Amino acid sequence: MKTTIKLGALSLITAAFLSGCGDSTTTVEEPTNSNTTTEENTTNSNATTEETTASDAPTESNIPYLKSNHANYSNHGSTSGFPTPTKDGENKSIDWTISATTEEGATKLADHIQFMVNKLKNGDNPRAWDKLFLMEEYMKTNHQYTTQIEQTGTTVIVSKVATTSCAYEVISAHADAVSGDFFAQGIINKDNSLTAESILADSVCSNEKTQIEAYILENQKPKGQ
Ligand code: HEM
Repeated sequence: MKTTIKLGALSLITAAFLSGCGDSTTTVEEPTNSNTTTEENTTNSNATTEETTASDAPTESNIPYLKSNHANYSNHGSTSGFPTPTKDGENKSIDWTISATTEEGATKLADHIQFMVNKLKNGDNPRAWDKLFLMEEYMKTNHQYTTQIEQTGTTVIVSKVATTSCAYEVISAHADAVSGDFFAQGIINKDNSLTAESILADSVCSNEKTQIEAYILENQKPKGQ
């Protein structure tokens, strides 16, 4: 068995376990809010691990592939219907267990998600015209949710856990777009800004409304830029 654990610099921890058992890859990010700083520092300093290197991070978003192959994914255990997330509002978690028709399809999807996690963590907005994606990036860079990706053969398991109700609403709305637009229809250019605005207007986001609005104002770009 070969195990690799990657640590993100400063406050983020990324662990990737490459296991010989069933070609499985897991990437785990740990949240880094003030409650976990000590633990993370401990983890960092005890590290018998290697730093994340640019060379083993996915270099492609695989979006054109996913768009054309969107119909080749289903919920694990089901042969028909597009993938849907399982939501748990009490635990603020969203889980997906997705089956691809080929191992290549599963790898392309897992790499896409990892590529996007890295992009969000770098503050490199993947859809800077869409307020929902901007809000998601705000939540990611402020360590308000984690994303775990696991691939075993043709199956991809994604688990996202939020630490605030506002972040949970954002990742939940994102999951709806992934399911209903991306997987169901291969539509990738729908603007979710109105959904983002209604989340922002909700009392669950009142603590951070001002900061999020400022973030959007600073980072939003017109479509095509
Ligand atoms: C313009 C096109 C797309 C963009 C900008 C995009 C961006 C993203 C981002 C930012 C994430 C979140 C990563 C995280 O929260 O840690 C994500 C996750 C994901 N994407 Fe995409 N994506 C696009 C198209 C697609 C397509 C076409 C598919 C599949 C047909 C897809 C499937 C997924 C899945 C399954 C996840 C993980 C589940 C989730 O975040 O709820 N994406 N993507």
